[in-house]
Amino acid sequence: MTAENQDDIDGILAAGRVVARVRDAMLDAMEPGMTTAELDRMGAELLDGFGARSAPRVMYDFPGATCISVNEEAAHGIPGERVIRAGDIVNVDVSAELNGYYADTGGTMVVPPVASAKARLCHATQLALKNALAEARAGAPINRIGRAIELTARSHGFKVIRNLGGHGIGRSLHEEPDGIVSYEDRRDKRRLKRGQVIAIEPFLSTRSTHVTEADDGWTLVGHPANRSAQFEHTIIVTNGAPIVATLSEGARRHHA
Ligand code: CO
Ligand code: CO
Repeated sequence: MTAENQDDIDGILAAGRVVARVRDAMLDAMEPGMTTAELDRMGAELLDGFGARSAPRVMYDFPGATCISVNEEAAHGIPGERVIRAGDIVNVDVSAELNGYYADTGGTMVVPPVASAKARLCHATQLALKNALAEARAGAPINRIGRAIELTARSHGFKVIRNLGGHGIGRSLHEEPDGIVSYEDRRDKRRLKRGQVIAIEPFLSTRSTHVTEADDGWTLVGHPANRSAQFEHTIIVTNGAPIVATLSEGARRHHA
C-alpha cells in the first residue's frame, strides 16, 4: 500500500510495534530443549494479547502463528515437535494484522554456544538489511536494494538466496511491488515511491542460492548442509531515511 495520511502511518507503526515485540520475545525465549511448537505458542499468545491476528494464518491458512525455520530450513518452517538444540541457527518470522494493517518482520539467532561462522552469517545478514535500508528512498531504483544486499553478502563470503525476497505490504501481507530480491536485477526498472510500505528481507546463505518447497508443502529448503539467515523490517518509504516500523524497543528509544 501507499500510506496516504497519518492514520495509515500510525496503523503500520502500531502493527509493526506488535510484530517486533513478538519477534524479540520469541528470540529471547529460545533455549535448548524447547520445541518450535512451544516457541510458536508463546508468539500466538502474545499476538492474541495485542489484539493482532497471525498474517500467515489469516491469509494462507499456515499451520502456525509464526514461521520458525531451523538450520537447513530457510523460511516458512512449520512450528512442531522439532526440538531446538544448542548451536542451532533459528529464524523467527512474525507477521500480523492489527486494525486492518499488516506488518512483517524476522530475525535469526544462534542458540548458544555460538559457532563463529554462524555468528558471522547473522551479522552479515543484519548488515545487509541495514545497507539495503540506506538505499530505500523515494525515487530510488528498487534494484539498489538487491545490489546492496548482494554486495554485503559477497564481501563477507556468503551467497544470497535468489528466489526469496521482500514485498509490498500494508493492507494485506503480500502486495505490489513484489520480488524485491537480494541481488541486482538490471532488468528491474521500478522505482520506489513516497509513502510506499514495503518489507525488506535479505536471505544470506553459506551454500544454496535457491530453495524449494519440502514435502510438507510449506518449508523452503536448500542443500541439507546449507545454513541461512534472514532479517526483515517493514518500512515506509520517504524522501529521506525510511520510517522503520519494526525496530526493537531499544532501537526505537535510541532513535527517539
Ligand atoms: Co516475514
Ligand atoms: Co516478508
